[in-house]
Amino acid sequence: MKNNIIDKIICGDALETLKTTPSESVHLVITSPPYNLDKPYTNHNDKLEYDEYLSWMNLVWSECHAC
Ligand SMILES: C[S@@+](CC[C@H](N)C(=O)[O-])C[C@H]1O[C@@H](n2cnc3c(N)ncnc32)[C@H](O)[C@@H]1O
Repeated sequence: MKNNIIDKIICGDALETLKTTPSESVHLVITSPPYNLDKPYTNHNDKLEYDEYLSWMNLVWSECHAC
């Protein structure tokens, strides 16, 4: 399963794609997530309530940690 993701660019929603990433297959995460600054993204509401933004980011960090 790990071989399926080596040297691949995986496009998609971070939460969904991270869930399909095998455990213990990632050693380092470098990211530039949305910063909730009301940028006009087509795929993301960048003006969430602050608590909602932190909850969403915590889900992403948890999924990163699980990989
Ligand atoms: C701060 S920008 C990063 C820009 C990037 N560093 C660059 O130089 O192009 C955040 C990016 O996250 C993307 N994004 C928003 N929600 C996402 C999600 N749920 N999953 C994956 N990417 C997402 C946005 O479309 C945007 O391109």
